[in-house]
Amino acid sequence: MNIENVTRTAKKMVADHKGILAIDESIASCNKRFAKIGISQTEDCRRSYRDLIITTPNLSNYISGVILCDETIRQYRKDGTAFAKYIIDSGMLLGIKVDGGEKDLAGHSGEMITEGIDGLRERLATYAQMGVRFAKWRAEIIIGDHMPSKGCIDANAHSLARYAALCQEAGIVPIVEPEVIMDGDHSIETCNNVTTAVLHAVFNQLYRQRVVLEGIILKPNMVISGLQCPHQASINEVADATINCLLHTVPAAVPGIAFLSGGQTARLASEHLNAMNKWTKSTIPWALTFSYARAIQQPALEIWQGKDLNIEEAQAELLHRAKCNYAANCREYTDLYEKA
Ligand code: G3H
Repeated sequence: MNIENVTRTAKKMVADHKGILAIDESIASCNKRFAKIGISQTEDCRRSYRDLIITTPNLSNYISGVILCDETIRQYRKDGTAFAKYIIDSGMLLGIKVDGGEKDLAGHSGEMITEGIDGLRERLATYAQMGVRFAKWRAEIIIGDHMPSKGCIDANAHSLARYAALCQEAGIVPIVEPEVIMDGDHSIETCNNVTTAVLHAVFNQLYRQRVVLEGIILKPNMVISGLQCPHQASINEVADATINCLLHTVPAAVPGIAFLSGGQTARLASEHLNAMNKWTKSTIPWALTFSYARAIQQPALEIWQGKDLNIEEAQAELLHRAKCNYAANCREYTDLYEKA
């Protein structure tokens, strides 16, 4: 293992106010998003959509790396260029989602465990040969009646840590993504309590599995009111709660925190990121950035509609969202960035 290369890559992923673009939806999730707006759910449509995103002009001005899924990393542009090569040649780091998705956790009705450790060492070696520099594994923690259980938190934290150790062994930076799901009518305080417990468990397991913290990127949820909660916390309350939670749980050795958007609107995700980057109540030891999927892609997907004649406009919208989040990292995002 060359840990210096891993730590160097991790720093690069969050350097210069850039963020990480997540276009790693599984075939099923991508199809679900296509179905909602009437786009055909075929391999070629998914290929065309990913082509549109990856070839957006000037994307690398705001994006340090792109996370693909296994289908996309094996696909090609119409001119025969592999997507993987196109991304690397455009000056962005190549990332891959390696988890095998969420399955019901036995004995824990309603809770999920992420699978995919079997054979991971071999898969990582293959991806490293394809030019992959970082990976992603997402664990899903659901808030509900008597949920999450300690059993669910511990099982997912353990898997995240085993995955992270295997990545570093292969010279790949692990993005560690424990996502506390926004769905529900829970308050921001409940989200804070659950996120705190989850992050404590994750960092405990990372320590036990001898993961080098300088060589990971954390991808957490923001601490936020549940989507159906009648009282929605303000932007500054979310920034305060999220930063305080992270200060209590995430060691300063971690180089960067790249948030998921979790179902927030694109604008709100930019506003929250900006408020956190502007937070001045104490020193923040990590770079704060974005690793959004929906909050960057959704507006562009709605413009594209599966039609070639909309590609340019969709790419302009995608670039716009990337730029808004880059501006948020620079503490400069305001309403003025949004078109009338
Ligand atoms: O695993 C989830 C994605 O990487 C982030 O997606 O920004 O739509 O929550 P999201």
